[in-house]
Amino acid sequence: MTLLHIDSSILGDHSASRALSAEIVARQAALHPGIEVVYRDLTIDPALHLSGAHMAASQGAQVEDASLAADLATGGAYLDELLAAEIIVIGAPMYNFSVPSQLKSWIDRIVVAGKTFGYTAEGQLQTLLPPGKKVIIASTRGNIYGVGSPTEALEHQESYLRGVLSFLGITNVTVIRAEGIAFGEEAKQAALSKAREQIAALAA
Ligand SMILES: Cc1cc2nc3c(=O)[nH]c(=O)nc-3n(C[C@H](O)[C@H](O)[C@H](O)COP(=O)(O)O)c2cc1C
Repeated sequence: MTLLHIDSSILGDHSASRALSAEIVARQAALHPGIEVVYRDLTIDPALHLSGAHMAASQGAQVEDASLAADLATGGAYLDELLAAEIIVIGAPMYNFSVPSQLKSWIDRIVVAGKTFGYTAEGQLQTLLPPGKKVIIASTRGNIYGVGSPTEALEHQESYLRGVLSFLGITNVTVIRAEGIAFGEEAKQAALSKAREQIAALAA
């Protein structure tokens, strides 16, 4: 069994989502003895923005540029890691109301027509991913975005991730959330404690 652990925060050792994603992985490893953990830090080796050259390469054009070739290899590795993993843990802070651009670049490489999804001739969506994948998201954000709150309409982080995963046929998604982190140290610690209680209660 394989677990893919992804981090996308730019804040290194100061990151709340990195702390929580590591704790989620430790909990899952305890629940699944012998599980293989593959770690991908998207800030160390982020994929480039998609370009016309990427699209041309995907249509079979010869790749002569070494940096494009290396980037295509990175994107291919993202995809292989996703295909191989039964459990995926994603550290996903909210940046400017959505996910970090490094995480968006990862999504751009895993939502690929003909590889992870397709359409039938009748226009029906089909997932091409192996079934049974489970995702746990460590969601962190400075403000709060509850239903009915003034900021609800700006919530494009968890809802976006859930939408993309659902599009790929992954509906077993759990969100561990620490929000209101920007409201001061006390609020931050309370949010992290609540998230840690949820992590301790995670099932296999
Ligand atoms: C570049 C940047 C953009 C941010 N944008 C938002 C935002 O739009 N809404 C929000 O509630 N918090 C925002 N925050 C606060 C973060 O979501 C919060 O600090 C969270 O803890 C970040 O997770 P991390 O510590 O794992 O990076 C932003 C923080 C950074 C660094």
